Amino acid sequence: MTRRLFLLVALLSDALFGLCAGCAVPKACRRTAVDTSRMSLGMDVPDARRVLVVYASRTGSTAEIAQVMGATLAMRGWRTDVVSVCDRPLVTGYDAVVLGSAVHGGKWLPEAIAFIEENVAALRRVPVAVFTVHGMNLGSDAERVAARRAYLDLVRTRIAPIDEVWFAGVVPQPVKSNFLALWMYRAAGGGCEGDCRDWSAIRAWAEQVHRERAGREEGQNRNSATAHIPETAKSTSVA
Ligand SMILES: Cc1cc2nc3c(=O)[nH]c(=O)nc-3n(C[C@H](O)[C@H](O)[C@H](O)COP(=O)(O)O)c2cc1C
Repeated sequence: MTRRLFLLVALLSDALFGLCAGCAVPKACRRTAVDTSRMSLGMDVPDARRVLVVYASRTGSTAEIAQVMGATLAMRGWRTDVVSVCDRPLVTGYDAVVLGSAVHGGKWLPEAIAFIEENVAALRRVPVAVFTVHGMNLGSDAERVAARRAYLDLVRTRIAPIDEVWFAGVVPQPVKSNFLALWMYRAAGGGCEGDCRDWSAIRAWAEQVHRERAGREEGQNRNSATAHIPETAKSTSVA
């Protein structure tokens, strides 16, 4: 399927699915049933590292993924806030940001992009790891990998994520129960037709973000400790 045809189907399906779901409302930031206004997890100790897990979701699957990531990071000692982009959280004061969005029409949700644009300066000062939740292009062949990498094209023009990951999401009931919508979804390359979330992979990625950040900080501390060793002591240890 050509890119143009894919986008046409994606756009048509967006409109159709929106109507099917009874969502003929402006595409402003919409909350899902599972959104929490702000979920704060982990111990509130003064020197705890702080991470913001911020997400954009239309039918809740991305919100639930963000919550599980938040819980995983909190178990590793991070003071964690899990917040929808609709709540427009401030990025300042965090040691790391985990930012995720569902994909509609071949792109991150516009409210996720709006969040980046509003906070671009702050997001460039902090390590940002991004996750993408989608239903098409789930295979491991080069074409699908390239297609899902392209979901982030717009994001990468604004920020430089330290890590990127893609997770299969959930196909909402209105799509599954509407013959035409399901046909269009399949025609556009839809690979997941239920709840396809892989919770172990999701937790494993959050663990990886933790290890990567914690390791880096440890390395920095080690380097700064080394930097304070007098020259003579350094040469002695090398010899
Ligand atoms: C209207 C609509 C458009 C979608 N467009 C795409 C798409 O272009 N590419 C894709 O990989 N997945 C697409 N999906 C699948 C969603 O990304 C997937 O269902 C995801 O889990 C939705 O996340 P949410 O529950 O957080 O909104 C689409 C789903 C819907 C309902």
